Amino acid sequence: MKNSLIISLAFMVLSFSGFSQTELITNVYNRSTTSLNGSWKYIVDPYENGYYNYRYEPFDQQETPWASAFFLNSKPNSPSELLEYDFDGMGDLKVPGDWNSQKQELFYYEGSLWYKKSFDFTPSREEGRVFVYFEASNYKTEVYLNGRKLGTHIGGFTPFNFEITDIVKARDNFLVVKVDNKRLKEGVPTLNTDWWNYGGLTRDVKLVETASNFIQDYFIQLSPENDKKIQGYITLNGNNVSHEKVQVSIPGLGIKKDLITDDNGSTSFEITADNINYWSIENPVLYEVSIRVKEEEVTDQIGFRTIRTKGTQILLNDRPVYLKGISIHEESPLRDGRGYSKEDAEQLLQWAQELGCNYVRLAHYPHNEHMVRLADKKGILVWEENPVYWTISWDNQDTYQNAENQLSELIDRDKNRASVIIWSMANETPNVPARNEFLNKLTEFAKAKDDTRLISAALEQKDYQGNPSIRTIDDPFAEMVDVLSFNQYIGWYDGLPEKCERITWVIEQDKPVLVSEFGAGAKQGLNGDKNSRWTEEFQEDLYIKTLELIGKVEKVQGISPWILVDFRSPRRVLPKIQDGWNRKGLISDDGQKKKAFFILQEFYENQ
Ligand code: GCU
Repeated sequence: MKNSLIISLAFMVLSFSGFSQTELITNVYNRSTTSLNGSWKYIVDPYENGYYNYRYEPFDQQETPWASAFFLNSKPNSPSELLEYDFDGMGDLKVPGDWNSQKQELFYYEGSLWYKKSFDFTPSREEGRVFVYFEASNYKTEVYLNGRKLGTHIGGFTPFNFEITDIVKARDNFLVVKVDNKRLKEGVPTLNTDWWNYGGLTRDVKLVETASNFIQDYFIQLSPENDKKIQGYITLNGNNVSHEKVQVSIPGLGIKKDLITDDNGSTSFEITADNINYWSIENPVLYEVSIRVKEEEVTDQIGFRTIRTKGTQILLNDRPVYLKGISIHEESPLRDGRGYSKEDAEQLLQWAQELGCNYVRLAHYPHNEHMVRLADKKGILVWEENPVYWTISWDNQDTYQNAENQLSELIDRDKNRASVIIWSMANETPNVPARNEFLNKLTEFAKAKDDTRLISAALEQKDYQGNPSIRTIDDPFAEMVDVLSFNQYIGWYDGLPEKCERITWVIEQDKPVLVSEFGAGAKQGLNGDKNSRWTEEFQEDLYIKTLELIGKVEKVQGISPWILVDFRSPRRVLPKIQDGWNRKGLISDDGQKKKAFFILQEFYENQ
């Protein structure tokens, strides 16, 4: 009891220090890190018994948290002491990785689960700071180190970090993380989605070391207005960051620029360069960019390109581009569950390129950073999406703030990636006043944070002037986007494939148009008449007829059919056909290509 009393007293003093999430550190990908990946102990806690006392009060907000609080990782001090948990006697979960695909008993689990990782730590530098960085954790995450709360993060697909400089020790650290993947009406996404609710520490966890006064954030891109001007800002973090020298160099362009930060530790710059080899699909040139301050240097690989619209065209480096795309969910093609690795990204993007794609729509939430870093290298354009999906609680201010936070973290992580050209605000949301206000505000936020990229959202189609044979986009949010995108399922949810031959489109907006989804389900290997639903022939016929229909809509500048690979969804329960999988993939869950794959491949070859 003595030991836990001391911890409790220490906690009492420190728990009000209000540890909160540290501003996101940019480009952890290239920094000095110590991986915490591997086996973690875990406790499944559906009643959150390790978080609340019997009066349902959170232990971590009590002045004297009981030893039964899991985040204390308590051990009995005597044979008589009562303790009813012990992390070290529990089983292991692998991090990174969702829990659903690792343990049969967790396949459908939606609730709280605790992870514990013990580790020793020897800093690699004399002076400096240490942070714990999570690439993603779905959905609500509470983090504790050595019995002290670091903070909370909400959102399942974006990175976050906490400073642990004054808490981490040389030996016997214990990092305890509570992850709760319960779906919430006020959540982002909300209760209903058409994908599996994979829970847990789904991506890498690592310690990041920085200088005492370090390079916290930077944004370095080609000016949207002048393709001979590289612009950006750099923000330092520390106690001595004002009026500090910062040097930006891009050796490949013969650039070395000395800057001085302002009172707040920030500086912005414009550098003229008339010898830039622009990043493009055919030639995805990435320049080594170095940012150096007194105590540290950070390097990144950045491509310089412009992306803008002109009337109904999308211009990449002022040349019209047709987006030959495919939609992708973040599931591993190599094993069951959420994708997270470089190998997962390699396989998915290799299939996309085999299809003939120059563009991918990463649906319906931010994917892992390997996908966008690899797209940068391969010359593949990317649509990234905030999980504002279907029936969000539009009137709830906390829901809006949550959506904005997740979008902010996505933009912060990927704003230096040339491949990313579109930020998508939402998918298939209803045209009602509260949603319009919500998305307009989110769009203004995105534009203010990054004015170098295009804004879109997957909207829905409707009959034109009440005529079901003529379709149109009649949605006030169409005025806010740079690229008008919509999903349509004529031939699957809306009649049969032959209906495509009886539909015309009227697009009244003078904007580029993307068909962000179309598709049909097919069980790979099920063959038969093209009018028999679920056969490969049905899906193949749908693609043939839809591609013909889309070809008649002159404003269409690209497509991202639904979807590259079959994916798990609790909504899809048709026995012997779906069995818990959405079968609209062009490739089956075991990597077999369906007939429609080759229809789309041929269409792209002829674009
Ligand atoms: C919708 C939605 C997807 C869903 C798909 C389908 O358009 O955007 O998330 O999986 O249709 O019904 O298969």
